[in-house]
Amino acid sequence: MKLLPVIAAAVSAALICSSAFAVDGAKLFAEKTCTACHGKDGKTPLLPDYPKIAGQNKAYIEKQMHDIKSGARANGNAAAMKGVMVIVSEADIKVLAEYVSKLKP
Ligand code: HEC
Repeated sequence: MKLLPVIAAAVSAALICSSAFAVDGAKLFAEKTCTACHGKDGKTPLLPDYPKIAGQNKAYIEKQMHDIKSGARANGNAAAMKGVMVIVSEADIKVLAEYVSKLKP
C-alpha cells in the first residue's frame, strides 16, 4: 500500500505535464502525428479516402476523436487512426478540436 502515494504523485505529475503541452494546438497537431495523415493544414490527407478536417465543427471533431479512441466508431478507415489515439489524452482532444476547427477549410 506504500506504493499508492507514489503512483498518485506520478499520475498527477503526468497530468500536469500533459496539460502544459496541451496548450499549443499547433504543436500537439504535429507531435501527435495528426499531420502525417491529415496534412499540416488539415486538408491535404495522405490518401484520397482519408478526411479533410480543417474547419470542421469543434463539437463534431471532439466526438469523432472520442469515438475512434473508444472503438465506438470502427467503420471505414477508423482503424488507421485508432492506434495514435492511445497517446492522445482527454485534454489533448479538447485542444486539438479547438485548433482544427479554426484551421481554414
Ligand atoms: C494513421 C493515420 C491517422 C492519424 C495519425 C490521425 N488520423 Fe484522424 N483519421 C484518419 C482516418 C483514416 C480517418 C477516417 C476514418 C474513417 O474512414 O471513418 C480519420 C478521421 C478523423 C476525424 C473525423 C473526421 C470526420 O469527418 O469524421 C478527425 C476529427 C480526426 N481524424 C482528427 C485527427 C487528429 C486530431 C489526429 C491527431 C491526434 C489524427 N486524426 C490522427 C487517419 C489518421
